[in-house]
Amino acid sequence: MEEKVIEENKQGTSLVQDQIEGNQKKLFIESYGCQMNFSDSEIVASILSEQGYNTTQNLEEADLVLVNTCSIRDKAEQTVRKRLQEYNAIKKINPSMKVGVLGCMAERLKEKFLDEEKIVDMVVGPDAYKDIPNLLKEVEEGRDAINVILSKEETYGDIQPVRLSSNGVSAFVSITRGCDNMCTFCVVPFTRGRERSREPESIIQEIQDLWDKGFKEVTLLGQNVDSYLWYGGGLKKDFEKASEMQKATAVDFAQLLDRCATTFPKMRFRFSTSNPQDMHLEVIEVMAKHHNICKYIHLPVQSGSTRILKEMNRQHTREEYMTLVDNIYRIIPDISLSQDMIAGFPTETEEDHQDTLSLMEHCKYDFGFMFAYSERPGTLAARKMEDDVPEAVKKRRLNEIIDLQQKMALERTKRFVGQVVEVLVEKDSKRSNLHWSGRNSQNIVVVFPKENYKPGDFVNVKITDCTAATLIGEAVGYSEIMN
Ligand code: SAH
Ligand code: F3S
Repeated sequence: MEEKVIEENKQGTSLVQDQIEGNQKKLFIESYGCQMNFSDSEIVASILSEQGYNTTQNLEEADLVLVNTCSIRDKAEQTVRKRLQEYNAIKKINPSMKVGVLGCMAERLKEKFLDEEKIVDMVVGPDAYKDIPNLLKEVEEGRDAINVILSKEETYGDIQPVRLSSNGVSAFVSITRGCDNMCTFCVVPFTRGRERSREPESIIQEIQDLWDKGFKEVTLLGQNVDSYLWYGGGLKKDFEKASEMQKATAVDFAQLLDRCATTFPKMRFRFSTSNPQDMHLEVIEVMAKHHNICKYIHLPVQSGSTRILKEMNRQHTREEYMTLVDNIYRIIPDISLSQDMIAGFPTETEEDHQDTLSLMEHCKYDFGFMFAYSERPGTLAARKMEDDVPEAVKKRRLNEIIDLQQKMALERTKRFVGQVVEVLVEKDSKRSNLHWSGRNSQNIVVVFPKENYKPGDFVNVKITDCTAATLIGEAVGYSEIMN
């Protein structure tokens, strides 16, 4: 169940890539936080592979250590601070080792990082990765280097990421960067800048490249993918100023998704994250039309109370959200939904909390990512509201939310017992190397005896049993549609 609540097991994973002959220097790069960070680290590794670096998983032998950081909650930042201390210990043995901080903490703390953490040589924000070769020159000459400029255009569309520590089956492709939503609790609009979309051609090209390499599943990534809008480049918020021609030929998320699914009929597609205010029924209809688009939507809601949603600057009420969910179930009855929830936002009462629980019961989520509110410096909530829900109350409410989610998850997972589901085989099951592990369209983990199947196969599996997080079954043959 843990794994469904939050992907702790991925946190701090370091990347390995194919070794490029002739590259002498060693890069250790690890990532914390969201999928976008993991995906960005692949872009950084790609940029550095042209500068003579190969990745290593052995910190002790690294010439350059990079940590891609997360600022979303205080705990995420504390984890990175601890990690820096560990690097420090290693630097005593290997004094020539250089340390760089990437990502959201770099953007949030800027120069302060260089003052506060003496071990850090280089600070690079999420839009400045192409400048790393220049920054490294500074560092090699013994100066600290920093670039935290946020960009209006940067989408890294022209960089072919190297696929690291991947199973060779599923990959992430970024389609938007930044976020304009300004949820009052959230630091992302400050650390990742304004929202911009990537050119469809470069997205299709990257998927083609993945297909040629044997990948079978692509997750389209963005802070708010449903808000995707390509009109020739530029910020989402400047669309109004675009020419008539640009407006007439603009590509939105429903169209992009349709194009991906049509161009690559045997590639499975997922996407994340959907913001309810931008999730329109056109997207649901495109999902319903294509077998190869997975029937799963991550639809964060944060709270079930209209009053709290308003304080959070979410652009919908409780009722509007529930209507959206009802419509989704009407169009795709076997869809699975997941949520993000925040317990203990400022001013949250017991009644607001009960609204959250009843909304969850209404929406019947398959999984959830649930958090206690953590005040983030600089956000509107931090500036305007007092963090007034006592820690113990936050924790208790959070536990009630998690308990309800776990109970619902078991009920939801049980619905597949007795059915045949289509599974994309990814890797060995965690418990046994005689079993494969993969996911069905609804994003639920399925394990089954290996027989002659292999990673990358789409296999129909008859489900015989389940836990809250896992379906257990036996293969009944290849999927005819996807193979
Ligand atoms: N749109 C983004 C959301 C990023 S933040 C995406 O791609 O997923 C991920 C989740 O972290 C949010 O949905 C929210 O539930 C949680 N979160 C954000 N700021 C938080 C804070 N200050 N305290 C607690 N949880 C927070
Ligand atoms: Fe954060 Fe809200 Fe954007 S949660 S990432 S500001 S949609």
